[in-house]
Amino acid sequence: MIPVPLLDLGPQNRALETELRAAFERVMGSNMFILGPEMDAFERDCAAALGVRHAIGVSSGTDALLLALLALDIGPGDEVLLPAFTFFATAGSVARLGASPVWCDVDPHTYNLDLADAARKVGPRCKAIMPVHLFGQSMDMSAVMAFARAHNLRVIEDAAQSMGARWQGKPTMAWGEFGATSFFPSKNLGGFGDSGLVTTSDDTLGERARILRVHGMQPKYYHKLIGANFRMDPLQAAMLRAKLPHLPEYNCARAGNAAFYRRTLLGAPGIAENAPGAPTDARILLPVDRSGEGIWNQFTLRVTGGRRDALKAFLADRKIGSEVYYPLTLDRQECFRGVGRGTEGLDTAHRLSEEVLSVPIFPELTEAQRGAVAAALAEFAQG
Ligand SMILES: Cc1ncc(COP(=O)(O)O)c(C=O)c1O
Repeated sequence: MIPVPLLDLGPQNRALETELRAAFERVMGSNMFILGPEMDAFERDCAAALGVRHAIGVSSGTDALLLALLALDIGPGDEVLLPAFTFFATAGSVARLGASPVWCDVDPHTYNLDLADAARKVGPRCKAIMPVHLFGQSMDMSAVMAFARAHNLRVIEDAAQSMGARWQGKPTMAWGEFGATSFFPSKNLGGFGDSGLVTTSDDTLGERARILRVHGMQPKYYHKLIGANFRMDPLQAAMLRAKLPHLPEYNCARAGNAAFYRRTLLGAPGIAENAPGAPTDARILLPVDRSGEGIWNQFTLRVTGGRRDALKAFLADRKIGSEVYYPLTLDRQECFRGVGRGTEGLDTAHRLSEEVLSVPIFPELTEAQRGAVAAALAEFAQG
């Protein structure tokens, strides 16, 4: 039995050991440990890769969202439309600033925000919308931008899971007023600890975000705005910069693994695509990249008939890692009791939290490992 972890960072980082050690030594030798030329160079490379005017390195993906909201002056009395089925930080950042999340349902096939539900819930206090490109699959950003224009909303893309994904050829993070991503180690561009990035092509907003990142200070010790310390470390920037040129090949390898699962499993008894018209007796539904430009941060199955936890246990017996992202929707979290509005009509989000299971998709999966995952899924779906 070949063990298959959900994620193994070792092979990816070992392959770049020389470049990573060189980056580390460069920073150590420079004695510049706060911002400086390493940060500038990483930010320039990110801006070029993402097709934006400004890329601002920050302490985490969560802080990237906070900084974007702060720069847009979103706070008490304001509402932000966001999906109920996402990681905590999407809504946590909104609530942390005293603004209110408006919980929206998600699409059962893409797992992304359902704009029809947003249209039912948008109101006069809504100031922004936060589409999340969940699991690396791009949200339909043309539709989001049209919706935002119609309702006079700012757009903050939560691209924590979608660095490198595009919609109609244009990168995620380049559509809205702001994009925010995370370099948490499990992300497609995985760092060496916590860090994140804010992007914008609006010069005024970019300048505000930069000032807010350093306590709202400009010039030194004169504070224009109430910011905080949201800085990324130059050590992190230098090491991530060594990995950034490899992101397309990492994403491509993930896409190869997704294509393998689909090729091997679609048509097997009990397995179908998670698309409209899927047979009702399918036990496992495989995810689809609707845009054709997603980057598969996770390969997230739907397991029907209340058997999700049984599949997780079945895989664990075969030493195959899997994870439930996410077992409880945000509207049902203890900390959000009575927070925000829109808790009605979240049926798909609630159903997904009971059905989803993510299986290994990381770029360095071997043939034997992905074969073992596919074989286990086929066996379970048949049983
Ligand atoms: C959708 C989403 N938003 C925000 C974040 C927050 O990023 P970080 O963990 O870097 O703070 C994450 C990361 O886990 C995420 O998946």
